[in-house]
Amino acid sequence: MARTRFVCGNWKMHKTQAEARELVRALGALLAPVAGRVQVAVAPPFTALSAVQAALAGSAVELAAQDVHWEKQGAFTGEVSAPMLLDAGCRHAIVGHSERRQLFGETDETVRKKVVALLGVGILPIVCVGETLAEREAGRTLEVVGRQVQNALQGLPAPDVARLTVAYEPVWAIGTGKTATPAQAQEVHGAIRSLLRDLAGEAAERVRIQYGGSVKPDNAAELMALPDVDGALVGGAALKADDFIQIIRGAIR
Ligand code: 13P
Repeated sequence: MARTRFVCGNWKMHKTQAEARELVRALGALLAPVAGRVQVAVAPPFTALSAVQAALAGSAVELAAQDVHWEKQGAFTGEVSAPMLLDAGCRHAIVGHSERRQLFGETDETVRKKVVALLGVGILPIVCVGETLAEREAGRTLEVVGRQVQNALQGLPAPDVARLTVAYEPVWAIGTGKTATPAQAQEVHGAIRSLLRDLAGEAAERVRIQYGGSVKPDNAAELMALPDVDGALVGGAALKADDFIQIIRGAIR
């Protein structure tokens, strides 16, 4: 099945509102020729969502959040809910990023609750999974990633699974300049696809599986040419308009 490739820029904790507007403006001019051929989103920090939403008006680029809380509202200081993200114009939200798992106590169970909360308001989750270097070296990659996927999707009906994006981000490749080789990426992406088939049948063919971890202009096209790599979740290189555009061009079939 031909899946539209999906490239999302995760800006992490970067960009003031003015800087965010400037980046979106630069992207807009460069993106016009690829509009409609690749799905593109950007995930600014919460404080810049509204500025970026305004700056994206009339463009095909979609807005994403970097995280969400699973409750709709309440006494949860510092948190932002799915209805709030919808109100801010988000079409997607990243959940379970390894930085949140490692630094902020995210677990498979909180990821699952966040997925349910997002789907409940019509926001499309990007579920991040990935093994650490120690787990890879111990030969546990497929076990760890399989467990993360299975737990995140537990209890979800197949039509909901079809709305997900899974981002495979090996922790050792994030921000290190060490990208997974095409063989390493395809092995894990293929295993995720086959697990999704077991869990949700045909819906698995519709799930986009992004690769993330030191995606750069010079490796993006090769990775996205792999059969089960349907796009990229891009960190550092998404902060520079020229680099991000080159990565998006690499996603055109
Ligand atoms: P880098 O592209 O900077 O390695 O970050 C990847 C990432 O964590 C995207 O979510």
